[in-house]
This record gives sequence, C-alpha cells and structure tokens, in this order.
Amino acid sequence: MATRSIARTGMALVTVAAMAALWTGNVAAQGSPAPSLGTKTYADMHVGFIQTGSESGWRAANTASFKETATQLGIDLHFYDAQGKVENQVSAFHNFNQDPSINVIILAALDTTSYDDVLKEAQAAGKTVVIEDRRIDADPSLYLTYIGSDFVNEGHEAAAAMCTLLQDSTSKNVAEISGAVGASAATDRAKGFREAMGDCGITIPDGLSQTGNWGVPDSKAVMAAFLQKTKDIQGVFAHNDEEAIGAIQAIQDAGLVPGKDIKVVGVDATADGFKYMIDGTLNADIECNPLLAPQVYEAALAGLNGDTTLPKWVPSQEGQFFAAQGADALQGILATRKY
Ligand code: AHR
Repeated sequence: MATRSIARTGMALVTVAAMAALWTGNVAAQGSPAPSLGTKTYADMHVGFIQTGSESGWRAANTASFKETATQLGIDLHFYDAQGKVENQVSAFHNFNQDPSINVIILAALDTTSYDDVLKEAQAAGKTVVIEDRRIDADPSLYLTYIGSDFVNEGHEAAAAMCTLLQDSTSKNVAEISGAVGASAATDRAKGFREAMGDCGITIPDGLSQTGNWGVPDSKAVMAAFLQKTKDIQGVFAHNDEEAIGAIQAIQDAGLVPGKDIKVVGVDATADGFKYMIDGTLNADIECNPLLAPQVYEAALAGLNGDTTLPKWVPSQEGQFFAAQGADALQGILATRKY
C-alpha cells in the first residue's frame, strides 16, 4: 500500500523564516521599502500559554513541545491548564491580558467561539496573540497568526484510507467516534471525512456517529452501544488514537476482531497508535503534528518585533501510516519519533 508519510523533524516544514523570505519578495516586487523591525529576542518573550487540558497523548506531546522549547530558547513561559473548560480559558486569557509582564499570549482553543471579548481586550492591551493547534471563528485581525493542522484534510485522508481498506467489501457502513463537541479538530475532521467518503460509497448510518470526548472509556462505551444496535458495521473512523483504542476494545469485547472484521482508522499517530498498528488492530493512523512550539515561538517573536505580514494560517505538514506497512517498518518509524 502506498504511503505519503514524511520524516518527523520535530518541526513542520514551513518556517517563519521561509514566510519572511516570501514577504521580502512580495514587497520588493511592489517597490515598497521594508518596515524596520525591532530587535527583541526570545529572552524578551514573556508568554502566557493557555492549554486545553491533558485529554490525550497528542496533548501531552503538544504541552511538552511548548515547555521544552521555552527552556531551550530561554523564554519565560507561564503555562495554564484549562482542564477542558472554555470558561477557564476565557478567564486565564483575561488574567494574562491584565498582567503587564506578559507580552505574548498563545491559545489552544477548546471551542471555535467564545474568545472575541478577550481577543479584543488583548489587542487593546498590545499583546501579541498566536493561536496554535485549533482554528477559531474570530476576526483574523485580532490575532497575529494561527499555526496548526488542516483538520479537513485529515478527514479526507481518513476517508481515503477507509476506502482502500473497504475496497473488497460490498457493505461500507462506517461508525464515527468524533472528538469533543465544538472543537475545530472534531468539526473539520467530520466535514472532511463526509466530503470524501462518497468517493467509494461509504455511508455513516443514522445513529452511528457520536462523540468519544477524545478518551478511551467514553469511546469504548460509544462503540459498545453501536454494536448493541447493529453488527452491520465494516469500519470505524475515530477522531484520535484514544478513541480508536476504545473502539478496538469494544470490538474485542463483542467477540469480533478489530482490524479484520471491522477496520479501524484513527488520527494523531502517537506512540500508542503505532502500538495498535503494529499488532494489526488499528489499520491506519492519520498524522496530526503536536510539535508546534518552535514555529509558534518564532512567529510570536516576529510579531513582537512588529512584523504584521505573517500569513493568517500556517498549516502543519503531516503524513499517514498503515498497518499494512508491516511491523518492522512501523517499529523503525516509531523509533525516530518524539512522542
Ligand atoms: O486538536 C488536536 C486534537 O486534540 C488531537 O487530535 C486530540 O488527540 C487532541 O486532544
């Protein structure tokens, strides 16, 4: 089976330096002089980071990326764990806005909405705001840039993988265990999967799509309930690795063989995802890159130095992995990965 997985370097491939080079070219072409930018360094950065919580292996890797990179670069990081609550994020954002020692605020948003007031407050207070991981539905003039995945494309890739896995199956009923309600990662993966599933005749039957809240226990219960309703399920699309693992456990408990009787496609490609691909119970894992800190900090520094020309979205570079690559190849890839 063909794969387009990329080597992981700990950083997505489009760097802010590359963006700056593009910018220079554009301005030169227009004949305008480049604005003179400031001389702040990472030592001048005082960051308030608002994390979603600690719901998954992906999230642990994302948090570690921000903490480790801050230490390496000498950035003063104030980390806040919102424990899955939007109201906690909004109140932490407000507190960072009020804190004169904080000049950069980074948000991993739990929801697509709810942040307009604190974003306006941040702008009035002169904070540099970078959105990481999940997009939000806010006026882009309220933040410097968003650095994160193309979740719609991840949904497309998941559907393409499922199409390949079900190519010899006459029925193509796929159950969906989606991410937390309101998260752009969940909304957009669901959208992308639906956009592409018709290419090979996949359907998500009524009543076979429900959130697993990014976790194993919820997802196991959801899948068990689906299998109580019907055994006419050929595939599961789980929005992250924990949800895929929950589905795998429920399939086993129902006396079926995950990966064979029911094909399973997950998203994230964490070490746990690889473990289940290596044992053949997870058929495919669509990569979502959590190691975003180097790019985010670089963008924030550019913003602190007055650069307003960054693109409003820098998508991460991601690949896909398949059980069909074989245990040896997957072990080799896993050994090169950080999480
Ligand atoms: O926003 C990224 C998603 O959030 C990951 O896929 C999921 O595991 C996480 O918690």
